[in-house]
Amino acid sequence: MTKTHIPPAVILPSKHLLGIEGMSQMTMHQLLDRASYFADHLQEDVPQTLKGQTIVNLFFENSTRTRVSFELAAKKLGASVLNISVAGSSVKKGETLVDTATTLNAMHPDILVVRHHASGAPQLLSQHVDAAIINAGDGRHEHPTQALLDALTIKRRFGRIEGLRVAICGDIANSRVARSNLYLLGGLGAEVRFVSPSTLLPPAIGDMGVSIYHDMTEGIRDCDIVMMLRLQTERMEGRETPSQHEYFNLFGLDAEKLEAAAPKAMIMHPGPMNRGVEIDSEIADDHERSLIQKQVEMGVATRMACLEALAMSNQASGGVS
Ligand code: CP
Repeated sequence: MTKTHIPPAVILPSKHLLGIEGMSQMTMHQLLDRASYFADHLQEDVPQTLKGQTIVNLFFENSTRTRVSFELAAKKLGASVLNISVAGSSVKKGETLVDTATTLNAMHPDILVVRHHASGAPQLLSQHVDAAIINAGDGRHEHPTQALLDALTIKRRFGRIEGLRVAICGDIANSRVARSNLYLLGGLGAEVRFVSPSTLLPPAIGDMGVSIYHDMTEGIRDCDIVMMLRLQTERMEGRETPSQHEYFNLFGLDAEKLEAAAPKAMIMHPGPMNRGVEIDSEIADDHERSLIQKQVEMGVATRMACLEALAMSNQASGGVS
């Protein structure tokens, strides 16, 4: 009888998980393999590798998927979890980000999961606390665990990432998901394209080494994955698009535009979706073509692998950064 190979817990080269940029291909594969193992055993007891650890979810921006899946992931691995949202914290009384973090640090958590509207906030915190930091989305910068769960969803569906054509479409300028996915999917050998009006591209797009399309049908032509992004109005200045109706006509994904993609192309969206703005409901809910709910499911397994990796890495280094 052959013994099933269980991918080991990952040891990261750094104390924190702040982004995908700079991550080695080996670490990417190791995290995805470990997350895939957890995805296969989500309903079973798994080794309690976070027993005795305290995880604090520190969210300065709204979240449903990321916050809940980090909590579930931590609990499945045996950790204690505290959830802190800005609305109920002393940030509302004027306490700064660093003061909030150093206050929490005095209570000796092991891992802080941080979401913040400012790019670089998790990195700033990492200089002021003893705990390991996971970036749960910072401004327009990165959302590393979202990219990892997207890659896991793709790998489990297609059996590979290398050689796939992936179109990431919509509000690229304000998207941390687009940036992290470019680093991760591109780093694993996918051909990544950005499809967007020029008003929704970041200024330094020319330096990012990605092909750009301003026409939706041309951009998604022959692609295996069409990943739609929300218009992130909370980070916009107001003049980037004409009306939402006009935006949908030009850049919204519907059945007609989707015909240009590869015959077995799959649809992805990190959520939350704005139906009728960037994606038609019929497409979003098409279980034959849409991986959107699968992405949410993979979020728990991915975050289990990441939390475990940080805990293991810090134990291996004796807690020294
Ligand atoms: N994809 C994502 O980050 O969703 P939430 O804002 O709901 O966490």
